[in-house]
Amino acid sequence: MASLGQITLPRAPSLEMSLLRRRFNQPIKTRIGFNGRIVSKQAQVSVKASVSQKVIEEEARVLVGTYARAPVVLSSGKGCKLMDAEGKEYLDCASGIAVNALGHGDPVWLQAVTDQASLLAHVSNVYYTIPQIELAKRLVASSFADRVFFCNSGTEANEAAIKFSRKFQRFTHPQDKEVATRFIAFTNSFHGRTLGALALTSKEQYRTPFEPIMPGVTFLEYGNIQAATDLIRSGKIAAVFVEPIQGEGGVYSATKEFLQSLRSACDAAGSLLVFDEVQCGLGRTGNLWAYEAFGVTPDIMTLAKPLAGGLPIGAVLVTEKVAETIKYGDHGSTFAGNPLVCSAAIAVFDKVSKPSFLSSISSKGLYFKDLLVEKLGGNVHVKEVRGEGLIIGVELDVQAGPLVDACRDSGLLILTAGKGNVVRIVPPLIISEEEIERAVEIMSHNLNALD
Ligand SMILES: Cc1ncc(COP(=O)(O)O)c(C=O)c1O
Repeated sequence: MASLGQITLPRAPSLEMSLLRRRFNQPIKTRIGFNGRIVSKQAQVSVKASVSQKVIEEEARVLVGTYARAPVVLSSGKGCKLMDAEGKEYLDCASGIAVNALGHGDPVWLQAVTDQASLLAHVSNVYYTIPQIELAKRLVASSFADRVFFCNSGTEANEAAIKFSRKFQRFTHPQDKEVATRFIAFTNSFHGRTLGALALTSKEQYRTPFEPIMPGVTFLEYGNIQAATDLIRSGKIAAVFVEPIQGEGGVYSATKEFLQSLRSACDAAGSLLVFDEVQCGLGRTGNLWAYEAFGVTPDIMTLAKPLAGGLPIGAVLVTEKVAETIKYGDHGSTFAGNPLVCSAAIAVFDKVSKPSFLSSISSKGLYFKDLLVEKLGGNVHVKEVRGEGLIIGVELDVQAGPLVDACRDSGLLILTAGKGNVVRIVPPLIISEEEIERAVEIMSHNLNALD
C-alpha cells in the first residue's frame, strides 16, 4: 500500500491511482523531517471508507491537472473553521489564498448574497444595475481613484490595466511614432496567468512554456531605485507594475523611498504607476489600501481576491486622466460587476473599511508576529518573520512544504510563498486572538517535530 498524505492507496494499477501517485508524489506512510529523517508514521484511512478519497480519484480523472492540490476535500466552513468531508476540523490561515476576508459564512455577507440572488443575479453590462454603481461609489470615495472598471479576477484586472496604460500613452501622444508601449515589473512579482499579466510575472517557469507572450517587459530588482528610475527616464515605459507588498513572491514590503521614487520618475517621464493590490489591498495590511502606508498614490490600482468575500470579482481603479482616454468598446466583460458579486462586495467593503475593524487587523497582526517570533524564532531554520497586518511571512532556510503539510495534518491551513522557503499566513481578517495562539502553537509543535 502507498499513501497519499493521510490516505492509503491500494497497489491496484488503475489509471486514477497512477495519476494520483504521479501528481502528488507524497511520502509513503511516513512523515519526513527537514533533514530527510523519518519523524512519524501517518494514520491510514481505508480507500473504501473515505468520501475524500473518492473525490480525489474522480478529480484526477476529469480535471485538467493544473493544480498540485493538498489531499483534503473541504466541504463546509464557519468563521475561521473549515471541515473536510470526513468531519475533520481545520483552522483556516490561508483564506482561499487571501480571499475570505470575513471568514466563512459571515451572516451579513450571506444575507446580502441570498437577498440579491433572489432579486437579480446577472443582466450583463448592456444595462445599469444599482449594486455596481453603489460599490464603485464606495471604492472611489475611499481611495485616490476617480473611476472604476470591474472584471472577474486579479489577472483580468492587470490585463485591463495593461490595456488602459497602452491606450493612455497612445491617446496622450497621438503624433508620437514611437509611443511608449513597454512595461517594468520586478523580481518576485506575481500579477497573474493570462498572457499580459503573465508577461509581468517574474517566475520564468510560469512564462517559458507559453512563449511568445506579451513582449516589452523588463524585470528589475524589487527595491532597486537606481535601475528603475534610469529605465523610466528612457521615455519608452507605458507603465510600471508593482505590488506595495509582494504576497506570492515571499511577503516582501516595498520601502517608502522605493515607491516614492517610482512615483517621481513616472511623473517626470509620463509613465503610469500601477499598484497591484490584488492580494495586499482591502484591509489585509491594516490600512484599507496598502499604498496608504507609503504616502504615494498610483495612477491605476488593481484589486480582486477579498473584494467579494469569496465570489469572483476584479476591479481596476483609475484617475480621471487615465479614464478619459478609454472609450466605449475599448474593454469589457460579460459577467463583470454583476449585481450578485457587487452586493457581496458591498457587504465586505462596509465591514472591512470601518476604522475600528482596520485597527483590529493591525493589532492582531502585531500579536501574531510577536507570538511567531517568541515561539518559532529560536528554531535554527527560522530566518525571519515579516509582513504587515495579517499578511505574514516566516522565512525558513529549508523548503516550507514539509511544515505546511504537517500543520495541515494537525488541523492548520497555511501556505507557502517565495521559492517555497517561506510560510505565508493570510488568515481571515476576523481571526480571534485565541485562534492566533492556536495557529502558532500548531506551527511551533510541528516545526520542532520536523527538526
Ligand atoms: C498580487 C497578485 N496579483 C494578481 C494575482 C492574480 O489573481 P487571480 O488568481 O485572481 O487571477 C494574484 C494571485 O495570487 C496576486 O497575488
